[in-house]
Amino acid sequence: MSDMQENAPRRIVIFDTTLRDGEQSPGASMNLAEKMEVAQALVDLGVDVIEAGFPIASPGDFEAVRQIARSIRGSVICGLARCRDADIDRAWEAVQDAPQSRIHVFLATSAIHREFKLKMDKEEIIRRAVAGVQRAAGYCPDVEFSPEDAVRTESDFLCRVVEAAIDAGATTVNIPDTVGYATPAHMNQVIRTLRERVPNIDRAVISVHCHNDLGMAVANSLTAVEAGAGQIECTINGLGERAGNCSLEEVVMALRTRNDFYHAGTRVVTNRLVPTSRLVANITGIHVQRNKAIVGQNAFAHEAGIHQDGMLKERTTYEIMRPEDVGFVKTDLVLGKHSGRAALADRARALGYHLTPQQLGDVFQEFKTLADKKKEIYDGDLAALVDQQIHAVAEQWTLHSYQVTSGTGRVPEVTLVLRRGEEQFSTKTSCGDGPIDAIFLAMEQLTGISVACKDFRVHSVTVGKDAQGEVMVQVEFEGHLYRGRGVSTDSIEASAKAFLNAINRIVARTNGGPAPAAPSAEDS
Ligand code: KIV
Ligand code: ZN
Repeated sequence: MSDMQENAPRRIVIFDTTLRDGEQSPGASMNLAEKMEVAQALVDLGVDVIEAGFPIASPGDFEAVRQIARSIRGSVICGLARCRDADIDRAWEAVQDAPQSRIHVFLATSAIHREFKLKMDKEEIIRRAVAGVQRAAGYCPDVEFSPEDAVRTESDFLCRVVEAAIDAGATTVNIPDTVGYATPAHMNQVIRTLRERVPNIDRAVISVHCHNDLGMAVANSLTAVEAGAGQIECTINGLGERAGNCSLEEVVMALRTRNDFYHAGTRVVTNRLVPTSRLVANITGIHVQRNKAIVGQNAFAHEAGIHQDGMLKERTTYEIMRPEDVGFVKTDLVLGKHSGRAALADRARALGYHLTPQQLGDVFQEFKTLADKKKEIYDGDLAALVDQQIHAVAEQWTLHSYQVTSGTGRVPEVTLVLRRGEEQFSTKTSCGDGPIDAIFLAMEQLTGISVACKDFRVHSVTVGKDAQGEVMVQVEFEGHLYRGRGVSTDSIEASAKAFLNAINRIVARTNGGPAPAAPSAEDS
């Protein structure tokens, strides 16, 4: 085998699995409408393949994959299946309406999985892999096969399985590092061995799917590209099982920034990276850390004097990418109470939001209320307002007013008024460990919905004493998890809004509220 031809630019296929592997991570489940929104954002981002879900896993998963296949245009839509007839049939049923669809079948191949999980010998694994791929290929010309835990599979056996899968009709062979065990040198060896020893390897695209347990998912994916892989599987913000998957934004920007080295590029529209990251963070409630590469709030912040001095003299002294290339917009435009609708629309567009006239009207109204409380409205404030508006759930219950008194060594007293349609409900009670707990308990009393609070997080949306606080809560109701989000300059009000938002999600799912179009993964 000869090495990659130097300087020949290659196009690497970006296979996004945010909606499948990413959605599997604890607390990241999304409902149907949210999955549709993320799928559209992935198309706008320019990903080649969207793995939309695992259709056999639940009716909600099936429906989401089917809806995405029916209405999202611009990327290949893929459904996951084990090497079982029922899985493959269900996956095909879900993806068949997409103009370009793919079935992704997988079967574990490592000794540890063969012995303890599958209780199958090597011959049985090959037989089942071949049968699975053949069945999928009978439906669809685009078939991907993954030998799960490939990286811990004996080299000879991995080569045999891959060869058999390609002969059976696999057009992509994906090499998963299921448990995040590989190192870059190891991954290099795995891909090179396949290229050297599998006689029909040129008939398929080699893909990699790296988990991040040792923090090397991006490095391992890049090494695989160097060694000849043509597809990378990744997720927005690196979401995924345990420590997550290879982060899409990092691997794409590494290929782009170090094109001199990799001579390989992608179709990704890089200035959509930050808006897409923000969308996924808002929907899942899993925020990226400030210093996260590419999309973290501090990714382009220069604090040290020497660095600032260098930047002022020549930007490239300390900056290898431009913030605008990944979708950060310059932050010198601050809006205030005299700003009009056009300025607001313009800023929202620059931040990556496409608002309908109705959404713009609603956001503008909220913006004016906020501008009365807060002199300067920064990008973070605006993003929080827009996110709140466009991800609103049908609100059965709204917060009319609250009053709470609390102090050291005394039980808080709360007066709470909620509205449901035209009706008004109020309560006055002494309860709780503090003002926020008291409001939550009063809300449970008025709505009749009692939950267990599993997570409560507050963070400041921008800077300064008058910054808005964003509260995210996660509550459990009848065994299912629901998220809630609230934003306000008053952190108690933000908490109240977040809790009520979670209650409204419960109501929308369980009675009264507009029934969801299909069962969603929120209850899987
Ligand atoms: O990590 C893994 O092995 C997977 C496969 C289903 C590709 O997610
Ligand atoms: Zn995985």
